[in-house]
Amino acid sequence: MNFFLPKQVVRAIDALEAAGYAAYAVGGCVRDQVLGIMPHDYDVCTAASPEEMQRVFENQRTIETGLKHGTLTVLMGGMPLEITTFRQDGDYLDGRHPETVRFTRRVEDDLSRRDFTINAMAYSPTRGLCDPFGGREDCAAGIIRCVGVAEKRLEEDALRILRALRFSARLGFPIEEHTARAIHEGKAGLLRISTERISSELNGLLLGGHAGEVLAEYPDVLGTVLPLRLLTGHEVDWPCSLRRIDYAAPDLAIRWAALLLDAGLETAGVLRALKMPVKLTENVSHLVRECRALDRDVPMQEMLMRLGPDQLRQCLLLRQADRVVRQPDQKETIEADTREKLREAEMLIQGNACCTLGQLAVNGRDMAALGLKGKAIGQTLNALLLAVVRSEIPNEKEALMKRAASMQA
Ligand code: CTP
Repeated sequence: MNFFLPKQVVRAIDALEAAGYAAYAVGGCVRDQVLGIMPHDYDVCTAASPEEMQRVFENQRTIETGLKHGTLTVLMGGMPLEITTFRQDGDYLDGRHPETVRFTRRVEDDLSRRDFTINAMAYSPTRGLCDPFGGREDCAAGIIRCVGVAEKRLEEDALRILRALRFSARLGFPIEEHTARAIHEGKAGLLRISTERISSELNGLLLGGHAGEVLAEYPDVLGTVLPLRLLTGHEVDWPCSLRRIDYAAPDLAIRWAALLLDAGLETAGVLRALKMPVKLTENVSHLVRECRALDRDVPMQEMLMRLGPDQLRQCLLLRQADRVVRQPDQKETIEADTREKLREAEMLIQGNACCTLGQLAVNGRDMAALGLKGKAIGQTLNALLLAVVRSEIPNEKEALMKRAASMQA
């Protein structure tokens, strides 16, 4: 197998090896390469203790934030690289953080405390692949399997339950039977995990190409992490919502809106409870609200005014997903209709169609000149914009002033 390691990673591994310490690239970057995917970052692990690492890299800039847990960040040619001493973690008493960190000189020990076989491989340019738990085989077969006893791995860090679902959704790999059972049985452990960590995993999961499919197999896990109490009184068709996710474009706001479309106004509450970023929350609730407006055939220029260009595109794609899932036999017609609508929207956007107050041929000063004051100015401008957007009047100063004056009469 041909492994590629950036030269900064090779230099760090070489420096450690030259000082007599075994060193490997480890975790996600090895998994991705075995799977033929380009890794997005590289981690290194080594037999050197934190102090020994510091001596090896004394001429490099280093950041010591994770030193207590054995991690030193070394700036190799400008690239921050996390290097961690081989660890054999102690008991995770709170199900989150290891209470004690025990260092070890054996890479196999370090790999044995990792979550899944596909993540428990290490690679060194001189030592080759270290794969004591059959990670390569599971990559080839396409299986997510815990290292060792699944219950124990998931108890140590219950977030691993969502990680398993995320990898399954992203890679399209089923979860092995024992691991799956341990997930169902251990899901309550997620209640001890911080909302931020859960949300970040959920976001990753939702972006996977098989997210809906995976969640359909683990509705109990979804029920544990989503604040469902906020949805009482809403008829959420979960099977349909999950199918909608897999059809929807892999865009975080669209995927969340696909999941929460039936939740209507409660969507914002659900995302706030999950401590999602305000921008995402607003984006998703906008899409959920306005998707129904598209059903009512509100004119495209008015939709552009209500949503802006980016959200309008998202909304059209969301609605497409919703319609296709409800009428799968109409898929082709619905897709053609969406293409047509996207084209219509694009023409309006490119043609700089009036859809904001700033594009209106009159402004606040013009309204003041008509004798309007305070709130009335904004209200009149908004009414004029709506009239323009609905093609009732042209966006020309004379026509707009006349309409504004008549509105006062
Ligand atoms: N790991 C673990 N248990 C966790 C988190 C991480 O055992 N709860 C180990 C795994 O070996 C994992 C490595 O730490 O491969 C790095 O974790 P992380 O950077 O979170 O994810 P990656 O596996 O690199 O995957 P990705 O970056 O694609 O999410």
